[in-house]
Amino acid sequence: MTRHNWPTLPDSVSIEILEGDYPVLKIANSLATAKVALHGAHLYQFKPKGQDPVIWTSETAVYKQGKAIRGGIPICWPWFGPHQNNSELPAHGFARNDFWVLNEAQQLESGSTLLSFKFNHSENSKNLWPHDFGLELTLLIGRELKVELTMVNLSNQEQNFTTALHSYFCVSDIKDISIAGLENTTYIDSLQNDERFKQQGAIRFSEELDRIYCQTPQTVTIHDPGLSRAITIEKSGSLSTVVWNPWIDKSSNMNDFEIDGYQRMVCVETCNAGDDIITLAPNQPHRISTTISVQKL
Ligand code: BG6
Repeated sequence: MTRHNWPTLPDSVSIEILEGDYPVLKIANSLATAKVALHGAHLYQFKPKGQDPVIWTSETAVYKQGKAIRGGIPICWPWFGPHQNNSELPAHGFARNDFWVLNEAQQLESGSTLLSFKFNHSENSKNLWPHDFGLELTLLIGRELKVELTMVNLSNQEQNFTTALHSYFCVSDIKDISIAGLENTTYIDSLQNDERFKQQGAIRFSEELDRIYCQTPQTVTIHDPGLSRAITIEKSGSLSTVVWNPWIDKSSNMNDFEIDGYQRMVCVETCNAGDDIITLAPNQPHRISTTISVQKL
């Protein structure tokens, strides 16, 4: 018996219940396969047909209520990173730490599968953040993956939000990839007291990197010669992009990060973070989305 309620599911969507009444949706259509946990509406596998996996998840990730899955696309909301003035509150908000509700699942004529999840204020959320809100996450799973988060301020005052579609990507070897599209933009370096620098050329990795690229609505591409592919990340409703790799020391201090996993992943996150703070009047919505696609090189 599960405490979760389900809409009618098309044949392309099935449910597996993991230990602890933890449901996972498995999607298998003619274009792709994917897995999405109801917890956090957290997509943690995506593989277009005939291609290598695109989304990275740690082999030691924990699937348990209250703990975000290490990898996939955690939804960071209503704040990105540590809370501004209360370090006891969870990093990256609370939307990734609880079960959402599956509202709708549809198999489309295009071959893609559409899933829509909801997450609203509750007693639990009010203990952490005392405001009313509504969130909807839509996933379109096909040859491409589209992730769209709509937030509505349902409180009677203006509210500020920061957020991230915190996407972890699979790469062949972090030392061989490069990230294009952010050249000549300004970034806030989280590893250097939030000082600002200008990006020179494409991004390459030889140590820990944790940056918020400002004023970056543009498409970003991960070039991966080892897998002979490029991953393209298009977005809307987002003026900031976080690029993160924890490298050796930070990842080995995280229990849910597999050993040497840092070599095979990179985060390129579609965000409202840094200076890109969203202020919403009562009943005002904001939508942030990303579309992830793969090109053979
Ligand atoms: C990134 C941040 O978005 O998320 C990093 O820029 C942070 O500073 C990383 O370490 C992972 O955060 P968490 O809370 O999932 O361990």
